[in-house]
Amino acid sequence: MRDDLSVVLVSNRGPVSFAQENGGFELKRGAGGLAGALDPVARRLGGRVVWIAAATSDEDRQAVAAGAADGLQDELGYPVYFLDFEPEMYAKYYDVVSNRMLWFAVHCLWDELGVKEFGDLEIAAWNDAYQPVNERFARAVLEIAESDSLVLIQDYHLTTAPGFLREARPDQTIFHFTHSSFCGPDGLERLPAPIPRRVIEGMLGADLIGFHVAAWVEGFLHCCERIGAQVDWAAGTVEHGGRRSWVREYPIPIDPRDLRERSGRGEASAWARRFAELTDGPLIVRADRTEPSKNIVRGFEAFGRLLDRRKDLSSARFVACLYESRQSMPEYRRYIENIRASVASVNHRHPGSIQLFLEDDYDRTLGALREYDVLLVNPIMDGMNLVSKEGPTINERHGVLVLSRQAGSFEELGETSVAIEDALDVDAISDALERAIGMGQEERERRALELRTLVEARTPRDWIEAQIDDLIEVQEGREPKTSPCTWG
Ligand code: G6P
Repeated sequence: MRDDLSVVLVSNRGPVSFAQENGGFELKRGAGGLAGALDPVARRLGGRVVWIAAATSDEDRQAVAAGAADGLQDELGYPVYFLDFEPEMYAKYYDVVSNRMLWFAVHCLWDELGVKEFGDLEIAAWNDAYQPVNERFARAVLEIAESDSLVLIQDYHLTTAPGFLREARPDQTIFHFTHSSFCGPDGLERLPAPIPRRVIEGMLGADLIGFHVAAWVEGFLHCCERIGAQVDWAAGTVEHGGRRSWVREYPIPIDPRDLRERSGRGEASAWARRFAELTDGPLIVRADRTEPSKNIVRGFEAFGRLLDRRKDLSSARFVACLYESRQSMPEYRRYIENIRASVASVNHRHPGSIQLFLEDDYDRTLGALREYDVLLVNPIMDGMNLVSKEGPTINERHGVLVLSRQAGSFEELGETSVAIEDALDVDAISDALERAIGMGQEERERRALELRTLVEARTPRDWIEAQIDDLIEVQEGREPKTSPCTWG
């Protein structure tokens, strides 16, 4: 990597958030895949990177006002600039547009959640909050970035920031990466005009546009065609408004060293021992945010049906390490109620068969991942799904991965897992669990080894270097080194 390289990372959620504790502020890890995945990358770039993120809660805002973020350079090895938004505007940008409209759109979740149509409130939230927040992020970049800095903008919260930045700095090298899925026109076009077009045109402000896997590149390119952009599928390029953008897949890996180190410590080991003693029968584990797209309720129902029909599996236990997410939204609050109700129903029929944890405890999750016989990852749709990579790396029982075809990681791990063809079909999930539980020891060992090899073939360092190398190529007027997607 070039010594004079300067990188500006831009995301809604930063690598840490703040919690008020004993009159001061304590640091917490940022929630979700994005923050956890980018932090090691930023640490590696060290003095060459600046991270711009939003203060996402009142505690964050107070901490930033009190100067608690000023020492982050020492703590993390790189500086983080938090942007402070007026709470009402932030809520409209984050809850109404990013999480209610765009997240559901990129996961095609409309029917699942019964969201039928949008009205003036949503359009107003787009105009008065989402667009101004994106513009503010772009202005912050302008204040910090040199003209030759590489600007790496992350995710669906910031789809129009690249466009705003492009207008102000025609020659800036801009990257946009989507960490979620991108299911295509069926999802996006359920949003009212002019939002679908603005989203795509905003993203096309970037020189290079990245997704985890080819399926999401495909969804995006279809959306580009729908707004009349010129798509060259073989080259992976989009021409629009007199500019060209490159579109590539960069499947995100995990860092096995960090994970093994943390999961081997006392706290996680104590949890692992507890879970090991839970039953003589098979142990099924899942670890997720309480997120409708993770399809948690159908997972419990599928387990319940399996126990209903296989009396011999009465000693099977299911440990669910969940943590609450996006509780400012009614859809997410309702989802937790549904989770509790489905666990209660299965436990009523099969007492003690599901242990549900709803508080974030990373060591407990690591302990459970060390001990599973079956890891259930059954999302309706998922950008990548890091748990499906983390589990096989630290699991000590040659556990089997049960994986939805609609998870981004299926592209890499599908052949070595037990596949769920249709994640909306409870019986299909139940059958997949049954097959995994019944798998012979030799087969389990072979698959577990293969999974670990696949997962550890690339590191987060390879992932970010591929993006940066490609951006440097593009900055210098050449094609990205990463090949375009091949279509099955
Ligand atoms: C997904 C998104 C991230 C987001 C994370 C947690 O992984 O791709 O951008 O940060 O979920 O969600 P939250 O709303 O808590 O930031």
